[in-house]
Amino acid sequence: MLKIGVLASGRGSNFQSIIDERESDRLKADIVLLITDNPSAFAIQRAKKHNIEYLIILPKKYSSRNDFFKEVADELKKKNVELVVLAGFMRIVGKPLIDAFPNRIMNIHPALLPSFPGLHGQKQALEYGVKISGCTVHFVDEGVDTGPIIIQAAVPVFQNDTEETLSERILRFEHKIYPEAIRLFSEGRIEIEGHRVRIKGYKPVDSSIINPSSFERS
Ligand code: GRF
Repeated sequence: MLKIGVLASGRGSNFQSIIDERESDRLKADIVLLITDNPSAFAIQRAKKHNIEYLIILPKKYSSRNDFFKEVADELKKKNVELVVLAGFMRIVGKPLIDAFPNRIMNIHPALLPSFPGLHGQKQALEYGVKISGCTVHFVDEGVDTGPIIIQAAVPVFQNDTEETLSERILRFEHKIYPEAIRLFSEGRIEIEGHRVRIKGYKPVDSSIINPSSFERS
């Protein structure tokens, strides 16, 4: 079974969606460790509830960013983690972690990359005035939200949306596509060719673009 390590800094609703997928047996993987950089992250409560081991690693205890990420990588390696899943982890991943898990770190971003990378993707999309936004699961490289894209889902942006309403609409799809991307990885179906990801045996019916017309207009 694929061994997963999760990194989260906050409420951890994406972490929960992965736990649910695993518990329902749709995802054949073990979540062997949660690492958080935030002692009050709600993700910790989720780990406790589901008997998942967790570690709090505080960046301020390390003399450099690289030392912090070296420690994170070492802890994940100790648990024989094969895939690192960033679930609302609020730091740019440092080189020691990327080097320890090449093409084995995933992230979810609340916008259709390469548009609106970095913080507050939903607010950026709203302020820019796009009519469609969404979410992206991608591999992590050294840039900010620049790695190869695995799956995206699109949602409409409505005229009267606020950051909250758009975030909520996007989040529902984050909870669908993140466990799905992990499942595809666990089944060995993801291939990276340059910057492109190909998914073996992906049928059109599994289209990664979710039709916005399935939403009622408000
Ligand atoms: C999500 O919007 C995710 O796309 C972004 O951070 C947020 C984390 O939410 N990377 P949660 O902690 O998973 O609820």
